[in-house]
Amino acid sequence: MQRLEKFVDPLPLLNTLQPSKKTRNGAHYDITMEEFRAKLHRDLPRTTLWGYNRQFPGPLIEAFRDEPVSVTWHNELPNRHILPVDTSIHDLDKLPTVRTVVHLHGMETKPESDGHPDAWYTRNFQVTGPTFTQRTFHYPNHQRSSLLWYHDHAMGLTRLNVYAGLAGMYILRDKHEASLNLPSGDYEIPLMIVDRSFHPDGSLSYPAQPNDADPNLPNPSIVPAFLGDTIVVNGKIWPYLEVEPRKYRFRILNGSNTRGYRLSLDNGEVLHQIGSDGGLLRKRVEMEEIGLQPAERIDVIIDFSELEGQTIILKNNLGPGADPADGMGEIMQFRVTEKLKSKDTSNLPVNLSYVPSLKQDEIKTVRYLKLVGSTDEYDRPLLLLNNLKWHDPVTENPQLDSTEIWAFINTTNFSHPIHIHLIQFQVLDHQTFDLERFNEDGTLLFTGAPQAPLANNRSWKDTIEVPAGTMTRVIANFGPYTGEYVWHCHILEHEDYDMMRPYRVITDERKDKK
Ligand code: C2O
Ligand code: CU
Ligand code: CU
Repeated sequence: MQRLEKFVDPLPLLNTLQPSKKTRNGAHYDITMEEFRAKLHRDLPRTTLWGYNRQFPGPLIEAFRDEPVSVTWHNELPNRHILPVDTSIHDLDKLPTVRTVVHLHGMETKPESDGHPDAWYTRNFQVTGPTFTQRTFHYPNHQRSSLLWYHDHAMGLTRLNVYAGLAGMYILRDKHEASLNLPSGDYEIPLMIVDRSFHPDGSLSYPAQPNDADPNLPNPSIVPAFLGDTIVVNGKIWPYLEVEPRKYRFRILNGSNTRGYRLSLDNGEVLHQIGSDGGLLRKRVEMEEIGLQPAERIDVIIDFSELEGQTIILKNNLGPGADPADGMGEIMQFRVTEKLKSKDTSNLPVNLSYVPSLKQDEIKTVRYLKLVGSTDEYDRPLLLLNNLKWHDPVTENPQLDSTEIWAFINTTNFSHPIHIHLIQFQVLDHQTFDLERFNEDGTLLFTGAPQAPLANNRSWKDTIEVPAGTMTRVIANFGPYTGEYVWHCHILEHEDYDMMRPYRVITDERKDKK
């Protein structure tokens, strides 16, 4: 499709959802998944989407530490997907093609509320008409302030459900953060960046699925990745935002299926990064460019105070398509055209928060987890974790409250953003190895010393880029709940094509069955 003109629609600001009721047990929300149509660009006909409360992104939830939230997630989606569903994996032809379950990414909650991929539900159709199905999940909010996000996690369908629009943001606040006097209110803006492709009639375009061809034939041309040709921020294509000459805080999420970004400002100003996935950093870091893989979040302050009258572009320097002539090199535009409403009294602190370093001397278990390329029975590419498929038995069983090191060994030739549910981890190091040659005993042939993570990745994280030919080690304490969770690559096409594994937090002495 011909490229749409950039920076013609204003950035939508997300409204905070009001609870349907407030009790001693916290705030309760009712959120409904529905099909709806939305205008994503001045020159594009309306797009059919799936959204939470008929919104894309879904409504913003704001919560406060230790004040629990519960959400009843209602499914009122039609019984037919708006995107082509591949039924040739996981015997999905035996399952309903519209399945949903919601995961709140970054939340420490019990397994029943985590949105396990196999806990999907559907809207039931009966002779007398549809009955709606729902699930109520509980979010304790016993954790530090951070930007979280909720999104669909149904087994084998996550890439399509999220692409259709089932994703939203959730801000958890706490007293410590409030004491820092960061830019707030109108000057704190959540941004969800995604890439999409469209047909000229406005409908979403997603490549045909393998089962569109004969599923009995090898179909090696299907690549499990999606890269769109259009940037959408908060539900508008390449939007602009009029700002005052002052500091703003942007809470940025990469909600894309596959695409990673490297963000920078085109006027050469730095991004003052104050937070990552798990909340505030220890100290502010001045970043010329920030990498943002799918599901990663950053908290940045941009200071427009000296830029009155100027136009600044938030750029993306990571390909494919990041070449400015190619469209994907630009995300959105800031116009410093608003009058300063009142003096900017917010702070840009250097010291932000206390983050203890998890101790390596208490480690009993180090797990070496291989990211490997494979093929399925039709010779289509399949990516696996430790050569196991999603439905193979659990192999990772950390003890409750134990600290473990997980070493992700990426033997493929591209990056994977690896995410672990339930916990936040700390990145220890990245170490490159030879993808072709091994030591005589078959062990990895390391080609460099372990490298410390970048300064902005040294606080709490729940998703980390594991570059090709690299072993990335993370350390985490497993808890505070027991039961079955998952870990996976957050490239949704990889997750659905089996780069996802269950893991179980246990309290007994059961050992891993290797
Ligand atoms: Cu953001 Cu398991 O997911
Ligand atoms: Cu998650
Ligand atoms: Cu991956």
